[in-house]
Amino acid sequence: MHTADHWENVYLSKSFDTVSWYAPHLAESLRLIEQLCPSKAAAVVDIGGGESTLVDDLLNREYLDVSVLDISGTAIEFTKRRLGTKAGAVGWHVGDVTTYDFGAKRFDLWHDRAVFHFLTHLAARQAYVDRLRRFVKPGGFVLMATFGPSGPLKCSGLDVVRYDGQKLQQEFGEDFELLGSELSLHHTPSGTDQQFLYSWWRVSPEKAEL
Ligand SMILES: C[S@@+](CC[C@H](N)C(=O)[O-])C[C@H]1O[C@@H](n2cnc3c(N)ncnc32)[C@H](O)[C@@H]1O
Repeated sequence: MHTADHWENVYLSKSFDTVSWYAPHLAESLRLIEQLCPSKAAAVVDIGGGESTLVDDLLNREYLDVSVLDISGTAIEFTKRRLGTKAGAVGWHVGDVTTYDFGAKRFDLWHDRAVFHFLTHLAARQAYVDRLRRFVKPGGFVLMATFGPSGPLKCSGLDVVRYDGQKLQQEFGEDFELLGSELSLHHTPSGTDQQFLYSWWRVSPEKAEL
């Protein structure tokens, strides 16, 4: 099945709080975003934001330049409805991160929880890293949450790749400096635990614009 169809089916058939990745708030993500980008003027994008409440929490913390991309239009519409009038303050994008064109927009921080690890083909990962190089400002930050070395082998019925910092460094290349990482257990709604690796990166200030 095509990736977009897979995710549309997920969001059409399941409620937001029953999917395995559901958490009422993305606490680690929020804490790290505030540490890396304390300025409320920072341009922050949530890649594969789905129906998560990260965008709500960023707006509540008065971040002024928040964008969300997801391959599922259904998920984006759900999140917009939940936000009501606040949705107008957000840059909404529906598309595949590996091919998406944000135009002239550049981000201070790129957040990805549980999207990159679905890219099982090298070409897709290379295309993703090309997007990072193009759309994150020189000196900007990438905050990734992938499954860790002891994480699940599948999610949502799809194969995933598990990562440690070294393996991610090989994918990202020398323009990305690993600033820190931590392992974290996610408690799924069905009662199991999943190991995530949070890692945060600085994009070289000298990186060439693609
Ligand atoms: C496991 S969910 C995580 C959702 C959210 N980040 C969270 O942590 O609650 C993966 C999300 O990534 C989206 N997604 C999957 N592949 C994608 C792609 N190639 N481009 C953009 N979004 C994608 C899915 O629609 C889904 O919302």
